Parts: sequence; structure tokens; C-alpha cells
Amino acid sequence: MLPLASSDMGERRLDVFSLFPAAFDWYLEQVHVRRAADLGTRIAVWNYRDYTPLKHLQVDDTPFGGGAGMVLRIDVVAAALDAVYGVDCELVKQERRVIELTPKGRQLDDALAGELAQGDICLLCGRYEGIDERVTNLITDRVSIGPYVLSGGEIAAMAMLDAVVRKIEGAISNPASIVQESFAADLEGGTEYPQYSRPAEFRGWRVPDVLLSGHHAEIERWRAAQIGRQK
Ligand code: 6GU
Repeated sequence: MLPLASSDMGERRLDVFSLFPAAFDWYLEQVHVRRAADLGTRIAVWNYRDYTPLKHLQVDDTPFGGGAGMVLRIDVVAAALDAVYGVDCELVKQERRVIELTPKGRQLDDALAGELAQGDICLLCGRYEGIDERVTNLITDRVSIGPYVLSGGEIAAMAMLDAVVRKIEGAISNPASIVQESFAADLEGGTEYPQYSRPAEFRGWRVPDVLLSGHHAEIERWRAAQIGRQK
């Protein structure tokens, strides 16, 4: 292994491949994402089109067998991986999880986000009718963010990135807010307790008295009793 390999540095590399990298601009500006970057988590968004070996910057093609829509070509995906990682595209998955974002994938949950926060990841976004099925030779996982269809993987990739980045130590200034977060294991899969702020009364809607009482133990008990009881 190289002496300065990223795993030795405690650095992490989260790569996203997309045909619409500008979709990520707002997300990458967010404070917790910048903080994660300062602490050594490098998020990079790569455009397949920048690496296409085809004329006219072509990236997609019509499906064999006919049918609607266009398919993201496997040779284009392969060329982008070859170029960005500087190794043969088939080897990329040996060093990181390579994940195709697709509604056909395993559904993202808190446990999977925790697993993905342990190392480098590479997210492949599809558009159109998806990526040529032979992408299975390049990936380790297929992940979906829920049982519905989005127009492309970008929104799903951002949801996944955010769930992962929040689990990287230091990205969130108050670590307790991560541990207590909704669906984390120490809430036993339940939801967080409800939060209130000023004003204490608005339109006759009152904040629960116990939260205004200043009795810390009672507040803790009330919050514990609330967990998992919302809707
Ligand atoms: Cl990862 N991609 C698309 N296109 N739609 C989805 C999804 C992913 N997850 C849920 N719906």
C-alpha cells in the first residue's frame, strides 16, 4: 500500500458520478458538508460526459430490443471510472463500495448509512431509463431511497450522502444530536421527542408545562415517554 493512501490519513473519499453535477452545488455549500471537508471527507462530483470516449460527447443510446427512452452506456461509465480512479474500472470496487442508485436497489436505512460511513464510497447516478445492466460488473451494491421512482439518481444520491456525512465524526457540531437522532439504534428505531421553542403560547397553542418547569429530571422522563409516540 502507498504510504499516503487515504485510508492511512483518516481521509475519506465520497465520489458521485452524474450527468448533472450542478444539481449538487447547493448541497456541497452546506455548513456541515464544509465542516466534513475540513476534517478530511472529500466529496467530489464527476460528470460522465467529461470522460466519454464517444463522438459529440455522447453518453446514452437507445435500448437494444426497442422501447422508450435512452440508456446510459456502459462504455461511458467505465471510461469515467478508469479516468477518475486511474485504475481499470473493474478494480475500483476492490477499494470502496461502488453503488448504483436505482429504484430497484436495497432500501437505504440508518444501518446502511452507518456502514457506508466507514470507508470510501462511489455513487453512480443514472438518468433516462437507467444504466446499462452490465454495470453489475462494476458495482458492489444497488441502493434505493424508497419505494417510488425519481427522474434520476441525483436527489437520491444527495439524500444518501447527507445520511452518511452526518455519521462522520465531527461533521455535526453537537455529537449528542447524532446519537439521539430519529431512528438511531439507541432510540430503538423510534422517533425523537417533540421540540418546542418561543413563544410559549401562540394562538392558544401551549408548550407542555413540564418543559417550562426547569425540572431537568422530569423533562428527561417526559421526553423518554414521548419517544415513538408521535403522529
Ligand atoms: Cl436511487 N433512483 C431513482 N431514479 N428513483 C428512486 C431511487 C433512486 N430511490 C427511490 N426512487
